[in-house]
Amino acid sequence: MGMIEIKNLTKKFDSFVAVDNISLSIKEGEIFGILGPNGAGKTTTINMILGLLHPTGGAITINGMDNIRHSKEVKSLVGLMTQETVVESDLTARENLVLFAELYHVPPDEIEKRVKRALQDSDLVAFADKRAGTFSGGMQRRLALVKAMIQEPKIIILDEPTTGLDIQNRVSMWSRIKELSKKGITVVMTTQYLEEADALCDRIAIIDHGKIRAIGTTTELKKFVGTGRVLEIISGDASKANAIVELLKKEFKLEATIKVDKITTVIAEQGDAILPKILNSLDKKGLTVASVSLHLPTLDDVFIKLTGSGLRDTSDDNAVSARTALWSRMR
Ligand SMILES: Nc1ncnc2c1ncn2[C@@H]1O[C@H](COP(=O)(O)OP(=O)(O)O)[C@@H](O)[C@H]1O
Ligand SMILES: [Mg+2]
Repeated sequence: MGMIEIKNLTKKFDSFVAVDNISLSIKEGEIFGILGPNGAGKTTTINMILGLLHPTGGAITINGMDNIRHSKEVKSLVGLMTQETVVESDLTARENLVLFAELYHVPPDEIEKRVKRALQDSDLVAFADKRAGTFSGGMQRRLALVKAMIQEPKIIILDEPTTGLDIQNRVSMWSRIKELSKKGITVVMTTQYLEEADALCDRIAIIDHGKIRAIGTTTELKKFVGTGRVLEIISGDASKANAIVELLKKEFKLEATIKVDKITTVIAEQGDAILPKILNSLDKKGLTVASVSLHLPTLDDVFIKLTGSGLRDTSDDNAVSARTALWSRMR
């Protein structure tokens, strides 16, 4: 039995289904990633795990206990770092930690020791008595993490722990998360970043529109795409995309997906043999393209395969369509 067992969990806001019948088993000691775009239902799921939000349907057990009936025990087992970093900006780093230790009923004779260690762990010793409001984003996030750990929970839940951080702070956060995991703490984290899930998580659930699309290790997930190579053609002109897809299907029996001017398909082999043939056919049909490339399957390809759209691209969808619209108007 998993440390966290989620069974048929559903959450509706009026008629809108934010979380749609998901089931998950999270093992003790693993780093479990919930990967999905904005609005996928990640925070809603986490709030239900913590008992902050009541499900419309389904149930959650944590360490064998129903999370609502045993909310007090569960609260002492689980630490949370929220998506919006919450540190009291008028308090110093030390005061933030003491306040949280008291809120979470850390024994009074333990508080000083734990606060000292938290300041060391977060590399904030030199800033202990400075107001948290003056800290950089990375420092605030480090403080938020040790704050969530001050009660020494067995499970830590991190809601988008690196969103908005620069790459240096992101990598530093990754190694802090790995350290926690080495100590045997079960980590549940959400992320919109494929590289992050790939680098950090033992297992990943891909979630989109409230539904789980796949669960597994990165290696298992990449097998969804196959063992060959991913062929990517940028047509440079969205109006040609359909003709290219037709050609791939008719002449090469390849099923491709289109995202604006990017055509993606999976080929069963390494591609050295088929690639020149494809280029040749495109040429014959007068379909000049901006670029053709081959690569090993990535989690992004898994996401495209499962959902029909790329995660990495979600934020610049509008930019791409705007660009395409502009191009068609210029012609
Ligand atoms: N309290 C709420 N009332 C109505 N809709 C909500 C509420 N909370 C979240 N939603 C909607 O549910 C969906 C999932 O939200 P959320 O779980 O915050 O997504 P994520 O954390 O993956 O970005 C979104 O479409 C969001 O607008
Ligand atoms: Mg969220």
